[in-house]
Amino acid sequence: HKTLKSFPDNFLWGASTSAYQVEGASLEDGKGPSCQDVKEVPEGTSDLKVCADHYHRYKEDIALMAEMGFKAYRFSIAWTRILPEGTGEVNPKGIEFYNNLIDECLKYNIEPIVTMFHFDMPAALDQRGSWSNRDSVDWFVNFSKILFENFGDRVKYWLTINEQNMLTLVGPVIGTMTIPEGCTNELKEIYQQNHHMLVAQAKAMALCHEMLPDAKIGPAPNISIIYPESCRPEDTIAAQNANAMRNWLYLDAYVYGKYNNLVWAWLEEKDACPEFAPGDEEILKNAHPDFIGFNYYNTSVCKESDGTEKGGAVSQQENSGEAGLFDGVKNPYLKTTEFGWEIDPVGFRGTIREIYSRYHLPMLVTENGLGAYDKLTEDGKVHDPYRIEYLRKHIEQIQLAITDDCEMMGYCPWSAIDLISTHEGMVKRYGFIYVDRDEFDLKTMDRYRKDSFYWYKKVIATNGADL
Ligand code: BG6
Repeated sequence: HKTLKSFPDNFLWGASTSAYQVEGASLEDGKGPSCQDVKEVPEGTSDLKVCADHYHRYKEDIALMAEMGFKAYRFSIAWTRILPEGTGEVNPKGIEFYNNLIDECLKYNIEPIVTMFHFDMPAALDQRGSWSNRDSVDWFVNFSKILFENFGDRVKYWLTINEQNMLTLVGPVIGTMTIPEGCTNELKEIYQQNHHMLVAQAKAMALCHEMLPDAKIGPAPNISIIYPESCRPEDTIAAQNANAMRNWLYLDAYVYGKYNNLVWAWLEEKDACPEFAPGDEEILKNAHPDFIGFNYYNTSVCKESDGTEKGGAVSQQENSGEAGLFDGVKNPYLKTTEFGWEIDPVGFRGTIREIYSRYHLPMLVTENGLGAYDKLTEDGKVHDPYRIEYLRKHIEQIQLAITDDCEMMGYCPWSAIDLISTHEGMVKRYGFIYVDRDEFDLKTMDRYRKDSFYWYKKVIATNGADL
């Protein structure tokens, strides 16, 4: 038994949400539609008009977060609340809402951690090609400037793009990928969009440092290590390929301003390398994140590719893989959630160690959590021991990673409050706070404290000593 190091005194205990999943009021007070508001709603799931109605109930919600003892609240700013068309006129009501939200956090000494872009491209910009259009770099930088100007006096922690790697690898599932008509090389197109995001976030980071010297800014990709199926050397090579494609491509670019060589070589072979505009190389090199924010849900496994084309690069599960690079395999050692997501707390420590040894930057966990069909009992309780167990095991691994001398800034699991999942509706709940509504029946919308609420309160009060 080793002696564990304690969590740092200023550790940012909190939780996360995103605007389009939690706010509702999707077209209220001048907000323009985002790609999420105009996309086809997945069958059997709610639309995004009301969500958790956080837009109207944020005061009550933040009071509950304060009751849990939150040190931080990570939320995203809806681009189309600030700029209904994505560019052009600023909507004063949008600025007002986020001013109020931020001030409400500060009232309780809750540090606002702002994600600038969480899957919600303005529909008007989607019409103009979204990330496919080189102008997207300017659109995003213009938006970020408005955020820094308006909120930079109070917001000290910024995150650029949520899960850029998932947008690139599984954009259509999230409802955000636009492939222009007549495109003949889809892979090149996707990595060109990814390149625009890289340049956009690099410029936003540089601008943040220039405008707000005391603020800290970082990315928020979804990072988790991929294991080789066996100690066959070929499986290790396959795992390196998969890790490069899923994880390191993004972090290498954010931190070192360089493309990962394994991914670049693969793109070259596919005639799919992104085009650099003049100056892009410098822009990427000059951006230096202050920390690495990352979301962690589940690891995956792969083995040597059998050479055939399979369904894609992200989920290294059975029947997935990238011809010549790796094939996905199921992990026989892990249990899954009700929604089939593997649970791997030890892999969390492994991921933290790996990130730290590659980049040596402090890390902020921006998401982690368990989606489940929670039930509200007649006496207004939600018994969610499965969530407590999940979070406890993951927090234990953070402490082990801290004991390994990895620098950890905070833990903001998904999600502070129940909200709408990316494609599995309202009934896939993640929150500490239960929202009384169903998929289609809005019921009372009242808030209830789950068992995990009281547990997390104790964890925070003891700075992680009592799990
Ligand atoms: C992350 C996203 O991928 O995972 C969140 O940043 C998302 O937006 C969360 O909600 C959980 O995924 P899902 O599909 O269960 O909602």
